[in-house]
Amino acid sequence: MPTNTQILLDHRPTDKVSPANFRIVETPVPAPGPGQVLVRHTFLSLDPYMRGRLNDAKSYAKPQEVGAVMGGGTVGIVEASNNPRFKAGDAVVGMGGWQRYSVSDDKGLRVVDVKLVPIQAYLGALGMPGVTAWYGLNRIIAPEKNETVLVSAATGAVGSVVGQLARLAGARAVGIAGGAEKCAYAVRELGYDACADHKSPHFGEELKAALPNGVDGLFENVGGEPFQQALRRLNDFSRVAICGLIASYEGALTALPDMRIFLVKRFKMEGFIAGDHLELWPKSIGELAALAAAKKLTWRETIRDGLENAPQALVDLLRGGNFGKMLVKVD
Ligand SMILES: NC(=O)c1ccc[n+]([C@@H]2O[C@H](COP(=O)([O-])OP(=O)(O)OC[C@H]3O[C@@H](n4cnc5c(N)ncnc54)[C@H](OP(=O)(O)O)[C@@H]3O)[C@@H](O)[C@H]2O)c1
Repeated sequence: MPTNTQILLDHRPTDKVSPANFRIVETPVPAPGPGQVLVRHTFLSLDPYMRGRLNDAKSYAKPQEVGAVMGGGTVGIVEASNNPRFKAGDAVVGMGGWQRYSVSDDKGLRVVDVKLVPIQAYLGALGMPGVTAWYGLNRIIAPEKNETVLVSAATGAVGSVVGQLARLAGARAVGIAGGAEKCAYAVRELGYDACADHKSPHFGEELKAALPNGVDGLFENVGGEPFQQALRRLNDFSRVAICGLIASYEGALTALPDMRIFLVKRFKMEGFIAGDHLELWPKSIGELAALAAAKKLTWRETIRDGLENAPQALVDLLRGGNFGKMLVKVD
């Protein structure tokens, strides 16, 4: 008899998260009720926002309940359906959580086309991270031809899409990434015009050299010292999209720049959450899927095998241990 492996939040972290904060249990595979669908997950998405949900603090996403299955994006195959919109064998994306099986009504569950891309793309470039990249770049930065867009965490799930979309819009794209290998990939595979390694002792000079015309659009994924350095390179009337501040998710302080810079540079800085713009998801995913089909959009994945490795994979993601979209293979 197959069982449902589930990972629960056992207790909240008081400092940095560790696998000890989670607990694995085996339960019976649930039976779908009227109107419901049973999904067998094939991949689980690990995302930085999950760290914020581990705290009992008010934020844009409500705290993860202690003792409950960890929430998270999943893709998988419909095993059984009592809902006319789904049939057994359909490939679907949803919020099934850190478990092998989930039962869903049809809210938040969507059939996906896996003819041209592997199913897990709907957790990355053709999913929430892709929409995030699309929104921040097109709706906040709105780059003009030959402007310069600077992207931190440039090879990550969100950043890798931002860089490619910026280049397709005719902008110069410059990345910030951790390490020589990630920077080389950013330029060779993702098409960035240049990339500065924030782990290099010469980061400041590298960044300056990569930005001969300054920065017109800053897509910020990280915060911390590289962000402070990037702010110094802003041009007049530039736009800063605050997408994420991963360097501070485990407690490091964030700091605003000296307020005079807002006046001197007349720049705009705006935070955003992709989930606030659900009406734009079909349009943005449609555009990203068309680019992927035309081989104009590429990405990379770090895949950890086995649901039981999800806690360690989250820990590693929060330390920059991923190279591209962080996924757990569930099957
Ligand atoms: N606003 C929204 O709606 C929304 C939606 C999705 C994601 N986000 C945010 O977007 C950012 C990127 O998310 P993602 O899913 O695409 O993750 P990701 O970029 O695939 O992975 C995180 C990356 O952050 C980089 N990083 C730099 N400094 C770090 C530090 N001090 N600690 C840990 N990591 C560091 C690492 O890359 P390097 O090694 O290259 O530095 C790491 O690989 C996150 O801040 C996330 O919270 C926001």
